[in-house]
Amino acid sequence: MEKQICLLEGDGIGPEILAQGVQALKTVASKCGHNFTFVSALLGGQAIDALGEPLPAATVSACKAADAVFLAAVGGPKWDNLPADKRPERGLLGIRKAMGLFANLRPAMLFPELAKACLLRHDIAQRGLDLIVVRELTGDVYFGEPRGIEVRNGERTGFNTMIYSESEIARIAKVAFETARKRRHKVCSVEKSNVLETSRLWKEVVCEVHADYSDVTLTHLYVDNAAMQLVRDPAQFDVILTGNIFGDILSDEASVLTGSLGMLPSASLGASGPGLFEPIHGSAPDIAGQDKANPLATILSAAMLLRLGLGLGREADLVETAVRNTLAAGFRTADIMEEGKTLVGCREMGERVCACLEKL
Ligand code: IPM
Ligand code: MG
Repeated sequence: MEKQICLLEGDGIGPEILAQGVQALKTVASKCGHNFTFVSALLGGQAIDALGEPLPAATVSACKAADAVFLAAVGGPKWDNLPADKRPERGLLGIRKAMGLFANLRPAMLFPELAKACLLRHDIAQRGLDLIVVRELTGDVYFGEPRGIEVRNGERTGFNTMIYSESEIARIAKVAFETARKRRHKVCSVEKSNVLETSRLWKEVVCEVHADYSDVTLTHLYVDNAAMQLVRDPAQFDVILTGNIFGDILSDEASVLTGSLGMLPSASLGASGPGLFEPIHGSAPDIAGQDKANPLATILSAAMLLRLGLGLGREADLVETAVRNTLAAGFRTADIMEEGKTLVGCREMGERVCACLEKL
């Protein structure tokens, strides 16, 4: 299979971790007889430094022209004092919107090899944590208009708009139900319908869409309760369906509970066209360029890219198995290091995974 992948290495540890993700893709491609070509484009701080803007037009067209987009991470203290519309994060929000990537899939699971890293009490962790947050990504208060800061009644006043149309809610609800069908057939829709009209409509539309998915069990939680249940009993969740802002918050919470942020991948998908695949962690400027970063979340994002972006399920399985085998062999980067294991750097971890891949 001939495929073109657009690389956005971004800032901080981005270039180091993406290099390892790309190596994994190249290894699996040569093993399975595919031909992947790679093009690179600028995003975030990198693009600000080179061209004065976080999302150059050339980046949008390179991403749209590719079969999949592979992103590492953007941002860093260097650009923290820029005005909001010039910050690296704006590049990330902009590329999601420009590519119509409305569905953000963020799995959070405990790797048995890393069970000790889990932040939960042993008896809670033992019941399991294997869920996926399906977060709407191109609407809500993130993009709603009007927004701004202006003087009202003689004082500065900030305002944003929480807004969802029924078509936006219905299409993300479908993604959640379809995702649940490939898992444990449970969706929990999270909103704040006891207070917000946007959430009332959310709940109504999710129930309407559910009529076509009677094989999936649908439950509802207010977001405050959901945040609490995630810590109290995460085993109750299979698919969590929620909007952009609640999903931003809950996906950080769910992922940190596993204790291994450096392990978790994500996918952002549109109705058609290429998807974007990236680790959930940030650009970790404090360890950039030191060969200390954990490349496994990026390598597991490569697996999601193969499965969901290119329809190559077997190849994705191979990459995931290689990661598990590398962990089982005792190799650890600093963030997941435990006594008795072998400490390796970013590059060596990537090389070990590729060596496992070759052997499969
Ligand atoms: C995320 C991040 C982004 C978001 C930021 C960097 C704009 O927190 O991907 O979760 O809020 O969506
Ligand atoms: Mg976030």
